[in-house]
Amino acid sequence: MDRRKFFLLTYGCQMNKLDSELIASRMIQAGFEETEREEEAQVLLLNTCSIRESAEDRVWGRIGAMKARKKKDPEVIIGVLGCMAQEHKVFLRTRMPHIDVVCGTREFGRIDALVRESIETRKGVIATGEGGNGDLVQRELSCRPMRAQAFVNIIRGCNMPCTYCIVPATRGPEVSRPVDAIREEVERLVADGVTEVTLLGQTVNAYGHDLERGTDLALLLRELHQIPALRRISFVTSHPSFLTPRLMEAMAALPRVSRYFHLPAQSGSNQVLKAMKRGYTRERYLARIRDLKGLIPEMEFACDFIAGFPGETEEDHRQSLSLIEEVGFSQSFVFKYSPRKGTVSADYLRDDVPEEVKARRNQELLQTQERVSLARNRAQVGEVREILVEGPSKTRKDRYTGRTARNRIVHFANEDPNLVGRYVPVRIVEAQAHSLIGVLQEETRTVLEGDGVLAGKGRAEGASQ
Ligand code: SAH
Ligand code: SF4
Ligand code: F3S
Repeated sequence: MDRRKFFLLTYGCQMNKLDSELIASRMIQAGFEETEREEEAQVLLLNTCSIRESAEDRVWGRIGAMKARKKKDPEVIIGVLGCMAQEHKVFLRTRMPHIDVVCGTREFGRIDALVRESIETRKGVIATGEGGNGDLVQRELSCRPMRAQAFVNIIRGCNMPCTYCIVPATRGPEVSRPVDAIREEVERLVADGVTEVTLLGQTVNAYGHDLERGTDLALLLRELHQIPALRRISFVTSHPSFLTPRLMEAMAALPRVSRYFHLPAQSGSNQVLKAMKRGYTRERYLARIRDLKGLIPEMEFACDFIAGFPGETEEDHRQSLSLIEEVGFSQSFVFKYSPRKGTVSADYLRDDVPEEVKARRNQELLQTQERVSLARNRAQVGEVREILVEGPSKTRKDRYTGRTARNRIVHFANEDPNLVGRYVPVRIVEAQAHSLIGVLQEETRTVLEGDGVLAGKGRAEGASQ
């Protein structure tokens, strides 16, 4: 069979980006070839996100735009994967009949077969059951975008009852991967040049509850920490309810575990937290942060907030603002509440915060966070930090970008591509709210010459969450 080319566009969270690596792996193993040029591909794949209406609208627009191509070239196969495929199933094709393949979040392990079937039968193919476990795909090492960094799935799905969230419906119940399978994958990545791994799960710190007794994230971290060439280990996203003393102790005992901790609160108000069914109060959330800071004083925290949840008052909103100040997050991701059909809050609560109020609260949360971030970043000026160099800066040709162990983005003047994938010290000279400016420490240049590692090719990417 001819080597058909496929083009893969990814929307949504880190989990989806990793799934796209596995989707590409499967396609390549089946004899397809990846291209970054949509116009030369015969198979167009979109890995999609349902988290907010705006995320879905972007995808609908993109699929709509592919109609002209399909008309001109009826042999082209259009496949929709991921959360929107799982959520809308057959209705995707009802709304847009030019879609050929609908592949849910637990079927992409056989995406190649679904595409082949559609090519051969010239019919629509819909798979939204549990037929192709993505974690059984042998990952192609060449598919990851960064040579030195990799994401590794450890738990899929979500069992939590958050009333606003579509993820439990699109991703299904939690299933942890066996420790051995994870360790093997990490070892294979490390042998291929990876020095930083990020373990992924929607409730990553619930890892292991469905496995053998005693298996949890603490145990997994201790296992992975023994791999000598692994310099940084992080994990996202954690739920405050599963931040156990055992996990905190493991983090404190393992110096290569990241000192940046993403712990979404969603709101600072107990009334709203209750309506969201998050399972903790503001006080308990703060107590967890205090406990962890007690064990690891240099720990930095990041947060997610939803602005304008049903029933949120000005006072509730002020509680979220004050949580940002009180914890001093280094970063927050802020979203306007978006009702998702089929979730409790959309079906039983009235979306009663007017759009302009949501927008203002969203803005105020962002501004407060920016102020806090800037103050924290200014405190870094003058310090020397080790960064892992990721590649050329997106905005300036004469600069490169890297990240510190606490996940701060640092831009620095450099034109040497051999530094990519290397750990280098930089002196911080300037602070902005979202990044730092650093100067490469001269003495390291000579030491580092000779064995540089180059970045792999990037994949076309849509909106991120
Ligand atoms: N599993 C992770 C992240 C889930 S989705 C966690 O529990 O933290 C990422 C973020 O999207 C959430 O943290 C939340 O802030 C936001 N989000 C989820 N559903 C939303 C909705 N219906 N409207 C607006 N934001 C939402
Ligand atoms: Fe959604 Fe809550 Fe699960 Fe996170 S923990 S994915 S917010 S249901
Ligand atoms: Fe991720 Fe979006 Fe699905 S955030 S889990 S891709 S709904």
